[in-house]
Amino acid sequence: MNSIPNTPDERLFDRIADALVNQGYIICDQALDSALTSALLHRVQHLDDQAFQRAGVGREQAQQLNDRIRLDQIRWLEQLDASEAAYLAWMERLREGLNRRLFMGLFDYECHFAHYPPGAFYKRHLDAFRGQTNRILTTVFYLNSEWQDDDGGELLIYPGQGDCVLERVAPQSGRLVVFLSDRFPHEVLPARMDRYSIAGWFRVNASIGNQIDPPR
Ligand code: OGA
Ligand code: MN
Repeated sequence: MNSIPNTPDERLFDRIADALVNQGYIICDQALDSALTSALLHRVQHLDDQAFQRAGVGREQAQQLNDRIRLDQIRWLEQLDASEAAYLAWMERLREGLNRRLFMGLFDYECHFAHYPPGAFYKRHLDAFRGQTNRILTTVFYLNSEWQDDDGGELLIYPGQGDCVLERVAPQSGRLVVFLSDRFPHEVLPARMDRYSIAGWFRVNASIGNQIDPPR
């Protein structure tokens, strides 16, 4: 018989696993506890400006080129803060839940807050290239309460090729998007307001010897 407990989180993990098998992505509303979602928004809004770094597109890319691709600022989550630790713990349960259901061999998870100031964007990109990375699954969790239709900042998800848009996702508080990292090009449209999200990646272990792959 099924040994997976029937809690709300486990039912959500069921839905995520089914969707990954059937369509490769899912958009879930109210995925996490609303108190934790608010605590994370409070946390990211009150972090010092110096805590953030400009996001890069690759280790060797010049800043000017980078500016044409993405303008968000990021900060990696750490265990030291209670709300960050609670988010990482939830993702650890999702990691185990997916490994248990789909035998994905997900090895670890890393994630960062992203702040898109008004006007910031992230042009169409893939998070992983087939066979070249250990990033397997992307998660994006949104923290913006009362996001309005004309605030912009939507995440556009494309099917592998072509310009038709598969999904247009407003960055609404509590919404979690999960997709196969090498399958779906996506972009972030410029927003009129400060836009906060947590982008993360489940990875498989592609380390050789004691060299961590990939270096951050
Ligand atoms: C990313 C990304 C999407 C978002 O950081 O790679 O695509 O909606 N983020 O914040
Ligand atoms: Mn991305």
